[in-house]
Amino acid sequence: MKPNDRHLMPVLAHHTKAGFAMFHMGWFLSFNASGWQSPGAGSMTKEWMKADPWVDMGRSMERAGFDYMMLEDASFIPDVHRGSMEGALASGGSPKHDPMTLIPLIGRATKNLGIIATMTSTFYPPFLAARLLSTLDSLTDGRAGANLVTGHNLRTAQNFGLDEQIEHDVRYEMADEWVRVVRALWDTWEPGAVVLDEERGIFADHTKVHLADFKGQWYSSRGPLNTVPSPQHHPVFCQAGGSPAGRAFAAKHADTVVASVSSVEAMREYRADMDQRLIDNGRKPSDCKVLYVASPVLADSNEEADAKRERQLGTVEQRMERTLSALSFSTGIDFSKLDLDQPIPPVSTNAARSTTERLLGNGKSEAKTLREHVSKDMPQIALVGTPDKVASIMGDMMEEAGGDGFLISGQVTRRFVGEVCEGLAPALRKRGLVRDGYSHTMLRENLQAF
Ligand SMILES: Cc1cc2nc3c(=O)[nH]c(=O)nc-3n(C[C@H](O)[C@H](O)[C@H](O)COP(=O)(O)O)c2cc1C
Repeated sequence: MKPNDRHLMPVLAHHTKAGFAMFHMGWFLSFNASGWQSPGAGSMTKEWMKADPWVDMGRSMERAGFDYMMLEDASFIPDVHRGSMEGALASGGSPKHDPMTLIPLIGRATKNLGIIATMTSTFYPPFLAARLLSTLDSLTDGRAGANLVTGHNLRTAQNFGLDEQIEHDVRYEMADEWVRVVRALWDTWEPGAVVLDEERGIFADHTKVHLADFKGQWYSSRGPLNTVPSPQHHPVFCQAGGSPAGRAFAAKHADTVVASVSSVEAMREYRADMDQRLIDNGRKPSDCKVLYVASPVLADSNEEADAKRERQLGTVEQRMERTLSALSFSTGIDFSKLDLDQPIPPVSTNAARSTTERLLGNGKSEAKTLREHVSKDMPQIALVGTPDKVASIMGDMMEEAGGDGFLISGQVTRRFVGEVCEGLAPALRKRGLVRDGYSHTMLRENLQAF
């Protein structure tokens, strides 16, 4: 086998010599300029809307053995915090382009990397979704996926013609039906329907292409789908909502779940909860890979990494503003108007429930006031140090938590992608914690390889 054939090498062992299990890696990023003010942003500031930066990053992630790139999305400009769009527009985090368009571009430049883009089930017509995902899966030889979200923001609902956002748990019920109709459409083509019989002049066998005739409470579609079946047949579904309704939905339909948690204990609880939910749905825990969001801060020495982390956190005022703005975003309530010297308020929201709970400390915050709470560093998985140190912490965490891997996030710049893909990933590989080459070409196969 030639060195270039490394991606064809079978992954022989799922456990390293030390007994640690290998884990999966994903990267969470937005098709926007959110990293424009970070050191190392370079040409990204002006060129983020072009293909090259993302294609370069995809290639780096593939060299590093990542399972997938997960592209976030939203269809609105936030304006709740301080009652204005100013913060969202000034920070550059809010304007974003449609991530689905990056899938074929990155797919064309890579061979094994999975590419998942976010799709809002509440507002995406199932027929168009089934057709688009099938087309993208064919274009990428079976490496396409959708991160299904229900769209928690009132402005999103208004952009799609509603006056109010649909009730939280109803959105997930709708999403469940949405997945069923999308799958029914993919299944309108039986295996072997495409015959390509040149002698008889038959492209597809009409007896193997059927109607979906799906009639649900919210969605109906006649079918058949007018795309030929894609390599994965059912492109991969990812899910990110951590509320009970979100987890129930993921346990039924997701191939991978991405979770934002603040401690190893929370990782373990999440995985155990998903295991039970998967079993209750007649699935195996290994059918759905749970990846935890982590933002490593890497440098050549541990001291430098600590200093870098401090710089990233900024002043107490900047930290408070960031957390309050995140709370306004996740709740739809303007947190800038609340009295900071009162206890943490009880919040009930129709928007993003699990994120809100996490930002408010999951009922475990010892802070006496909201000001005290938002002045503190948000508890998060601490991955700060040299690549070797961070690789060793990640190995220990996975061993302790029993999850399936990490979803890297952070201000996306070529420099940061280089630090992770050419610094951290080799350190993980040296320990046998991540794959050394891909055993399969399609996304779901690689997710299921170990
Ligand atoms: C890692 C991660 C990525 C997410 N990506 C998106 C996204 O791209 N678009 C979106 O609308 N919501 C996104 N969310 C939010 C959730 O999908 C979900 O909408 C939100 O958490 C509300 O769900 P919940 O009430 O079930 O917690 C993300 C959440 C996490 C943890």
